[in-house]
Amino acid sequence: KYKRPYFLPPTRSCDWMKKDYIEKAPIWCSVDLRDGNQALIEPMSLAEKLEFFKMLVDIGFKEIEVGFPAASETEYNFMRALIEKNMIPDDVTVQVLTQAREHIIRKTFEAVEGTKNAIIHLYNSTSVAQREQVFKKGKEEIKKIAVDGALLLKTLANQTEGNFSFEYSPESFPGTEVEYGLEVCNAVLDVWEPVSENKVIINIPATVENAMPHIFASQIEYIHKNIKYRDAVSLCIHPHNDRGCGVAAAELGVLAGADRVEGTLFGNGERTGNVDIITLAMNLFSYGIDSELDFSNMPVISSTYEKLTGMHVSQRQPYAGELVFTAFSGSHQDAIAKGMHWHEEKRSKHWSVPYLPIDPKDVGRTYDSDVIRINSQSGKGGISYILKQNYGFILPDRMKEEVGYTVKDVSDKEHKELSPEWVYQIFENKYIYN
Ligand code: KIV
Ligand code: ZN
Repeated sequence: KYKRPYFLPPTRSCDWMKKDYIEKAPIWCSVDLRDGNQALIEPMSLAEKLEFFKMLVDIGFKEIEVGFPAASETEYNFMRALIEKNMIPDDVTVQVLTQAREHIIRKTFEAVEGTKNAIIHLYNSTSVAQREQVFKKGKEEIKKIAVDGALLLKTLANQTEGNFSFEYSPESFPGTEVEYGLEVCNAVLDVWEPVSENKVIINIPATVENAMPHIFASQIEYIHKNIKYRDAVSLCIHPHNDRGCGVAAAELGVLAGADRVEGTLFGNGERTGNVDIITLAMNLFSYGIDSELDFSNMPVISSTYEKLTGMHVSQRQPYAGELVFTAFSGSHQDAIAKGMHWHEEKRSKHWSVPYLPIDPKDVGRTYDSDVIRINSQSGKGGISYILKQNYGFILPDRMKEEVGYTVKDVSDKEHKELSPEWVYQIFENKYIYN
């Protein structure tokens, strides 16, 4: 009952396996304002979308899917507001989603009239399940929907004021025979006839992530090697996270030949979400690759995201959660304190402090309040560190153990974390006033 089918490419090479690193950041496209927004309990208002858009621009996104203008009045008005209030910086391209249906495509072009640079993102569903259960159409008919949509995009782009490029997605690709998915993409490309100076985007979505990341990578490699007009195609991936492997799938997808990644901040999006672009970008950063996105003020990005979406950033969210740089346990605290000291002394260029994946300062976090925190699991090293950093007390080595036990005993009995003030109070009561 639960064995979900997936499709392997007819010929399977795994060249992606031979690569150890992603050498260059892919082109990023944020789909926060579309895939992310459509999955919220209460989608964002126009004003909220504008604020989110500005944040995405500040982070450095150059391609932003801003909505599905034919889906609602707010979506339509948002696109118009961006254009009429001249809110789109010259170096940013907005993207809008449309189903491959005539009236929806026409409405979409009305919404984007006058945009400086816009990508019109066309999709239709190609999977066996959707063909049989939803559309009750055969392969040729489904391909024709895509081709007709592609033709209409080409016609309307010539008749509408603005500079337009195109994207096509075979939606529900994971349930689509890979060869057939490729055939539909190639048929769309034959309509658009892209040239390398004017690329189009072919987007392979893992609409529902139903296979392990290496399967996805093999599918992407097959498309990469067999798609027509390859020099004129930006090959994009759009992983979702149903198996919890969105980041892994995206990384392997890029190794397998993808040039572009669509995702969201903190992995917001349908069901378990889209791939988290922050994790992807910071993973690159941790290997010394410039992601071209700026997450140096993560606490502000995180709180703005929470305010605008009503979602919560988990305490364990990679690179962003409250606890992701924190060590409570004694041995970790001790190793971190020693590692930090070693790094300062050696002026090391490479970050290798134990237990800290990156320097917390790089995402706007501080050592004092974020790294060493005290509870019953803590050790003498962490407690001495707090007294030194916050109160200037340098404990003699002989005292450290006793003070350590005194302080952590309180945490154990009270069953609570101790703030630096509380740590100091315990120390003061026992060693200064006694
Ligand atoms: O996940 C998906 O398939 C999508 C498409 C519309 C690209 O969001
Ligand atoms: Zn999606």
